[in-house]
Formats: sequence, structure tokens, C-alpha cells
Amino acid sequence: MSSKIIILMGVSGSGKSTIGKLLSEEIAIPFIDADDFHPKSNVEKMSNGIPLNDEDRKPWLEILNQELIKAEGNQGIILGCSALKESYRQILAKNIANIHWCILNGTYELIKNRMEERSGHFMGSAMLKSQFDCLEVPSYGTHIDIDKDPSEIIKTITKVMDKSSFGVLGLGVMGKSLAKNILNNGFSLSVYNRETQGEEGIVEAFVDANSYDKVLGFTVLKDFVDSIERPRKILMMIKAGKVTDAVIDSIVPFLDEGDILIDGGNSHYENTKKRSDNLQKKNIEFIGLGVSGGEEGALKGPSLMPGGNKSSYDKVTKFLEAIAAKDENGQACCNYIGPDGAGHFVKMVHNGIEYGDMQLLAEVYAILSKTMSYEEIASLLKQWNSGKHSSYLLEITTKILEEQENETYVLDTILDRAGNKGTGSWSSIASLQLGIPTTVKTAAVHARYTSSFKGERKRLSAYKQDLTPKEPVGLKQLEEAYDFARTINLHQGFQLLQEASKEHNWNLDLAEICRVWSSGCIIKSEKIKEYSKILKEVTTLFDDEKTILELFKNESSIASVLNYTLLNRIHVPCLYESYNFWVAMTTEKSSANVIQAQRDFFGAHRYQRIDVEGEETFHHNWS
Ligand code: 6PG
Repeated sequence: MSSKIIILMGVSGSGKSTIGKLLSEEIAIPFIDADDFHPKSNVEKMSNGIPLNDEDRKPWLEILNQELIKAEGNQGIILGCSALKESYRQILAKNIANIHWCILNGTYELIKNRMEERSGHFMGSAMLKSQFDCLEVPSYGTHIDIDKDPSEIIKTITKVMDKSSFGVLGLGVMGKSLAKNILNNGFSLSVYNRETQGEEGIVEAFVDANSYDKVLGFTVLKDFVDSIERPRKILMMIKAGKVTDAVIDSIVPFLDEGDILIDGGNSHYENTKKRSDNLQKKNIEFIGLGVSGGEEGALKGPSLMPGGNKSSYDKVTKFLEAIAAKDENGQACCNYIGPDGAGHFVKMVHNGIEYGDMQLLAEVYAILSKTMSYEEIASLLKQWNSGKHSSYLLEITTKILEEQENETYVLDTILDRAGNKGTGSWSSIASLQLGIPTTVKTAAVHARYTSSFKGERKRLSAYKQDLTPKEPVGLKQLEEAYDFARTINLHQGFQLLQEASKEHNWNLDLAEICRVWSSGCIIKSEKIKEYSKILKEVTTLFDDEKTILELFKNESSIASVLNYTLLNRIHVPCLYESYNFWVAMTTEKSSANVIQAQRDFFGAHRYQRIDVEGEETFHHNWS
């Protein structure tokens, strides 16, 4: 657990040293004065009466930051530092989990009089005035009126210090894991869960299990809110949908202006925008946070996709970056995605890609299991996973194939009816609305829907026996077909992101989104890492020569695999859609002229002519 870091800030003469020393006695944490840490060059400048500029202050603030980091690992510290500007405070606070900012506020007149009384002379009204001019009063922290009695000031500070720096509302599977992750990163935390039927004792159990960390548990919403330092940062981990609105409605009356609510559920991006707009009217900040990685990711490091106002994100960056997965260069798999519901939109497209990737693996299984045992398939997939196809989904599918219970493969005990929570279909709906073909994802959604007609499938299958292939599929061809289809699935997802970005002015950075997806999330893979590099150079994968040539190279393999599935009646909709999309995209002359003619025939909808440039349209008097 990390120790307390308290920074007493304010202009010269606001009483930082007096309060700092008293507080140090009260709570037995050492007090240091920032002025004692200036590098030699600054001391020389000051003794020559030359005022320090921001460049001079930087190394000084960095030295102080190191002192604070050291103290956080020891017994904590109280620092008296003017910290007038936000940029100074950011340097001081870098990489520190729990800082309590205490802002000593007083008027110019009050401080001037005090200084005159105390030292018999005044420091110079110009200098004090310039400090007031520089002072960027933070909206956060504990604001203390220095006119009050010092003992009262100490009481106020000690009370605030007991507050948590972050809150998690909802201790379901994901909420619990994220809360633990936050504690593991040294932050002090308040958690809340309702105490309704079936959810009794959840908070108590969580607090007991984490009693060595600084965690406060609540089942009363107001007490939970009151226990968090302002501006409050509260992560809601609740079921997306109406519950989210209900929870927001019930928590808002207890919040103060400037508090930040973060919705970490899989909410629809349009709802996120509405909630954000409504809360803005109440001066409550709102972040729609895409969270991927399942239970384990949430605990050890998820991929995080925050959307909303950049200024709100800046206030929670240190928490989110600390708990996020780290990419191959050690950078957090979390970055500001864009305004409104951009974060949740990107998470939704992530899920669309996830559906496609999952279905492709199911199709590979469908083909291979016709002629191979589960052990043989697992061993093949392990080989694939050791190279460029390596991905989290491939890895878990291998494990799934090998899993046995009472000498039976678990897979054989699972009913072949796929569930879904909606994000896959939202992704397809968005692509239809935006006019972007995401055929692989959509085929995956339909495959799940089709699987749900189990009774009918059973009845109809009685008419026709399953075919046993005469020979196994070509393994090399299948590997290339799989690779081909994954590329198309990702390409379509990127196209959807790009179009949404244009439509909503989100300015999405695809390369950065791929980097955020490179670790922690369900679709993390070597391919995503590769595309995060490629998309720095080109706007679409189809502008990348290497990708185009690879797709052309693998085209005959997927055609041959599809041929095999046709002959053997194997349902492989995503492989099909990827191939068809590619063929359509690489054929100059399509059959859409027939569609245009039909439209014009029955509805006089008009068409453009190939021999006329521009947007002019024509109607033919069909005979
Ligand atoms: C993730 C997943 C997760 C998703 C579940 C269930 O990135 O961690 O996408 O957020 O909700 O996998 O999704 P379905 O029930 O729709 O399959």
C-alpha cells in the first residue's frame, strides 16, 4: 500500500510552512519545504534577484517529484510548494497514486497584511501581485480558507485525507477485477454494491479479501459518494442499458459539480452521447469507457478505450493508464479515443471484429473436425499460434479443444447454440447506417442467430445425412484461408471506424487504436500489432501493397477451401463473405449496372452513364 502524499499549495505567505509543520506533528509524517530543493543554478539566480522562469522551475519540480515518489514508498510526506500553475502540478504529481492537494486560499489584502504584521516589512506588493496573476486555482483538491483557525484547518485536512481517490460502483465479475487492479496499483478506493436479494455480502467479502489495501466498502450510495475525494472519479461497472440510466439518476443528487462518472459497461455509443449531454447540463463530467479483456484482463490489465471530453480524460489518465495492459514497448493500452461516444463506438467495433474472429475459428474447427481428432486440431492450432497468426482467441480455442472432464471433451458437452449480448449486431447496424460493408462481422452475427434455431436444425437435418469427406482439407490452404479472412475482417472494421470518424468528426487515429488493441483485449494478436505499424503509413489496408499482394497470394487457397466446404456441406459463412468481398473489391466491372437499370425501369430512379463525367443522372424510356 502506498503512503500519503500531501501537497500544501498557495502563494507566498499563505501559511504553507506553518500549516505543514502543525500537520506534520498531528499525523506524524515529515514536512518539507519546496524552496529547499532548488538546484544550484536557481539558487544563484534568485540570490542575484533574477526571477525564475518555467524552464528554471522544471528541474526543481522534477527533483520534488522524485522526492514524492520516494516518500510514497516510505512513510509519506507533506510538501509545502506554491505550485501556482497546472503544468507545475502535473510534474509534481507524475507517477504518484494518491496525492492530496490542499489549496490554501486567501485574498491579496489578507496575505499582504499578514506578511507586514509578521516581518514588519512587506515582500513587495508587485511580487505578491505577480503570484496572484500566475495562480491557476485548481478545480480539484481541498480548498482551505486561511482565515480560519490553524487547528480547524488541520482538522479539515485530516478529514479529507481519509477519503479515497477513486470509486468503483458495481462489484460484478468485471467490477471486482477492476477494483482489485486499482488497489494493486496503490490507489485508495471506495467500492459500492447494492445489497439486494442475491447480492448480499458482496461488499463485505470484497473488503475482507482486500483488507491489507486501502479500501472502503459501502452499500449506501450517499456514503459511498461522500467517501471519495473531490472531484470524484467514479467508475460504474454495471449492466449496460436501462440500469445505467437508473444508477446515474440515483447517484447524481449526491454528486458535486466537476465530479466525473465513467461508464465502463458495453453501452451503446448513442446512449453514451445522450448521457454525456444530460450530465453536462448539471456540470457532471462523463466518460464512456470501452473495456476489453474479460475477467482476467480487468484484473491484470485490460485494453481501455475512453471517450468524452479530453479535459475529463486528463483528470483520470493516471488511474486508467496505471490499470491498463502494457504494449510491447511498455506503454499503456489506453489512450483518449475521441469525444462523445467515440470510446464506446470503438469498443463496439472491437466486438464486431471479435465476433468475426471467433466465428472464423469455429469454421476452422468445423472443417477440421470432419477428419481430425480434437488433439490433432489443437496441435495444428498451436503451430499456427506460434507464428504470425498468434492471437489470444487462437490460444484459448486450442485450450478449449483439449479440455476434458471425466474423460469427455468439454466441447462435446456444450450445446451448439451461441448467445450474444448485442454489441456484435450494433456494430453491423452501424455499418449498414454508414454504408460500409462489414460482411464478415455480420455473417458472424447471423451465424450465432442461425445456431439458435436448434430445434428446426435438428428436424431438417434428419432429411440428409452428414457427409464424411473423402479426404482431409489441405492444411496449408486452410491456414492461408484463415489468414485471408482475418485480414478482410479487420480491414472492414477499420473502414467502419474511418467512416464513423468522418461522420461524427471524431478524428480517430486507427494506428493508435490498433496499438490500444495490441494487448489486454480479446482481439489482441500479432496481426493487430502489425497493422498498428502499417496504419501509420496508409489510411486503409487496401492502400498497403504488401497486404494487397498477400491477399492475392492467398486467394486461391481460400477458393479451394470453400470448394471443399461446398462439396462436404460445411457451414462457413465468414470464410465465404471474406472471399466474396475481396472478389467484389478486386473486380472493376460489377453487376450493379443491372440494379441501376431495374431501379430506373420500375421507379424512374435514374442512373449515371459511363460516358458522362460528373454526377449527372439519366432516365431511359424502357420499352
Ligand atoms: C471484451 C468482450 C466483452 C463482451 C463479451 C460478451 O472485449 O472483453 O468483448 O466485452 O461483452 O465477450 O459478448 P457476447 O455475449 O455478445 O458474445
